[in-house]
Amino acid sequence: MKTIIFSFPGNELLSESIIAGIEGEKGSFTLRQFPDGESYVRVLSEVKGKNVFIVCTLHQPDSKILPLLFLCGELRDLKVNSIGLIAPYLAYMRQDKRFNPGEALTSNYFAKLISSSVDRLITVDPHLHRRASMKEIYSIPCEVLHATQLISAWIKKNIPEAILIGPDSESEQWVSEVAKNAKMPFTVLQKTRKGDREVEVSVPHIEKYKNLTPVLVDDIISTARTMIEIVQHLKKAGMKSPVCIGVHAVFSENANEDLNRSGVSEIVTCNTIKHPSNGIDVAEVIISVLKKSL
Ligand code: R5P
Repeated sequence: MKTIIFSFPGNELLSESIIAGIEGEKGSFTLRQFPDGESYVRVLSEVKGKNVFIVCTLHQPDSKILPLLFLCGELRDLKVNSIGLIAPYLAYMRQDKRFNPGEALTSNYFAKLISSSVDRLITVDPHLHRRASMKEIYSIPCEVLHATQLISAWIKKNIPEAILIGPDSESEQWVSEVAKNAKMPFTVLQKTRKGDREVEVSVPHIEKYKNLTPVLVDDIISTARTMIEIVQHLKKAGMKSPVCIGVHAVFSENANEDLNRSGVSEIVTCNTIKHPSNGIDVAEVIISVLKKSL
């Protein structure tokens, strides 16, 4: 029996690769807004007794979560055998601590919501910082996939003489792994976030790598202030123009333009979120985990 893959708007390219990779069937459904802003969802495929996956990356999550829950609700009513969510970018992972009394611990609430609607979650490099594993907040089986090998391969092919730079201790888990695979040096900086759009980064002793191309590696590029701050430091230190690699191209507001203008030589991201900077395809890691379990 073929697995059915439903693709949320914006996820079509990745979904097509996944369908081809697992020889699945494309799920058909209608999703639209009523004039009053409420969502209309209609499942058109025959799904009774079948295993379905929904591909829905979760940047800008607030507008996606309700239609996603409605689709899951209808799939259950149509008596599917199981629902898996493929969310290459998983939202609300950064609000993992109350910094001030009364702040909503949204990563927990979001995890509860998703866990109550789907049977299984597949995601790529979720922002696990103060939490060691997804089990701490998700009560369903979660497969955490990594883009590190793909990023290493891209760097090895395109920038053989590189120094990899992680902006903060949180990024060490990615940058050290990418550097190890690529057999390249790396350094991790110290970052202090002073507000949503204000960060300070210290860049010590970078001058010794002047003959190498700096490659900044981070999981999320959102406001891009982290990357821009480092680019400015590197410029002052007389380093070569850097390449910026992010797993998830969140790029809020004018972040992409601002980063482009800051003096980078290239911005490359994985296709966990569809964006013109996508240069690293994560379909194969998703397909390989699906194939193992089908
Ligand atoms: C930190 O928590 C993350 O690893 C990224 O460094 C951060 O999300 C980047 O955010 P922004 O692009 O807004 O500086």
